[in-house]
Amino acid sequence: MQSKDFSELVQARYSVRDFRPDPIPADVLAEILDDARHAPSWSNTRPYLLAVASGDRTDRLRAAYLARFDESLELRHRERGAFLRAWLRRTLPDGDFPTWKRYPDELRKRSVKVGVGLYQQLGIVRGDRDGRDAHARRNLAFFGAPTVAFLLVHEDLLPFSAHDGGLMLQTLMLSATAHGVGSCAMGELATWRSPLETEFDLDPKYKLVTGLALGYPSDAPVNQFRAEHLPVPQAPTR
Ligand SMILES: Cc1cc2nc3c(=O)[nH]c(=O)nc-3n(C[C@H](O)[C@H](O)[C@H](O)COP(=O)(O)O)c2cc1C
Repeated sequence: MQSKDFSELVQARYSVRDFRPDPIPADVLAEILDDARHAPSWSNTRPYLLAVASGDRTDRLRAAYLARFDESLELRHRERGAFLRAWLRRTLPDGDFPTWKRYPDELRKRSVKVGVGLYQQLGIVRGDRDGRDAHARRNLAFFGAPTVAFLLVHEDLLPFSAHDGGLMLQTLMLSATAHGVGSCAMGELATWRSPLETEFDLDPKYKLVTGLALGYPSDAPVNQFRAEHLPVPQAPTR
């Protein structure tokens, strides 16, 4: 393989935010997962689990996540009394880690930049709360993807298990790209764990860090959006 082929593959991957409903053939999905097993991990422990859903299971998960989103909308809007009402209804986010954290200031500007670019692409203007909510809701519909996966990492090996899980996920996403399958890592899905528990028999030691949507990209304009990829941040020398 030529190094330029690898560079092309890496640059061809992008976060797909609108999928066609066509299922990924089982043999294609199996090949992608087979490539992912070649990812390195600390002491070869592979301290993670991947929960993969396709077909009806994806649709049930989609419905469950959408219901969680709808229940949480007033919390997102920071409406008065929303926390208490959610607590009483037992609909507070039940993810293993908080996902609605404010980013540190020096990182927040990068996140704002990609958000602004994405909203511009979607035609969502400043102050259009309904437009933002509608896009946020599409996350919980897995952007229409026919397959969704969830990465869980062993709690006793954190942070290294999360690191190793990330290496595996990128290997999986690159293989998906090589197979013509689009992907979008979806941290938003880690806001809730309970929908997963109804579909998978999960060891409680494994903690949910992110979801991953997989499928064939549609030709929706949102898929034209490309995030900026600046040089890898490097530590200054003394
Ligand atoms: C762990 C992780 C979680 C992410 N969660 C989301 C998400 O919930 N929704 C979303 O639209 N994009 C999500 N992304 C995609 C990032 O926004 C995207 O990778 C970044 O902006 C760079 O763009 P690119 O993937 O198109 O190169 C996530 C990416 C990662 C690695």
